[in-house]
Amino acid sequence: MNRMSVTVDGTTHEDEVEPRLLLVHYLRDRLGLTGTTIGCDTGNCGACTVDLDGASAKSCLVLAVQADGCEVTTVQGLAQDGEWHPLQRSFHEQHALQCGYCTPGMVMGACDLLRHNPDPSPQEIRHALEGNLCRCTGYQNIVKAVRAVACDRETATSGEEARA
Ligand code: FES
Ligand code: FES
Repeated sequence: MNRMSVTVDGTTHEDEVEPRLLLVHYLRDRLGLTGTTIGCDTGNCGACTVDLDGASAKSCLVLAVQADGCEVTTVQGLAQDGEWHPLQRSFHEQHALQCGYCTPGMVMGACDLLRHNPDPSPQEIRHALEGNLCRCTGYQNIVKAVRAVACDRETATSGEEARA
């Protein structure tokens, strides 16, 4: 067993884990954070995507012990004060989910994209999310949902500039 300390969605956990335990299983089975889904366990589908120290990571490809000393954000850590994250709201408004299984990974992947590129083109969104598979094939609305957040931010920024 290995000792580890990891901050997940703002809460620090001290734990003992088997060295072979995957981060996704640690999140779901040990911490009960089942919002992070498992689609393949082989790094192909992106359903398990989380933020690991500011970078997007497929948590089925990371050992729990590799997250020792790190900060992890899951889809369950995005909402603030009971308010959905803009991407969560946009996925809802743009009908960007059907069964919803891929949605946590899509939202986390999109968060990472918007952090690095606040105004991505549809093509850039498709490229950034190409490691995330939607078996319901709802890609069109997923791209729309991410674009809508970028457009809202642009509108908010230009509104602020106009008032300045
Ligand atoms: Fe991790 Fe599919 S469950 S990539
Ligand atoms: Fe069903 Fe994407 S909404 S897998």
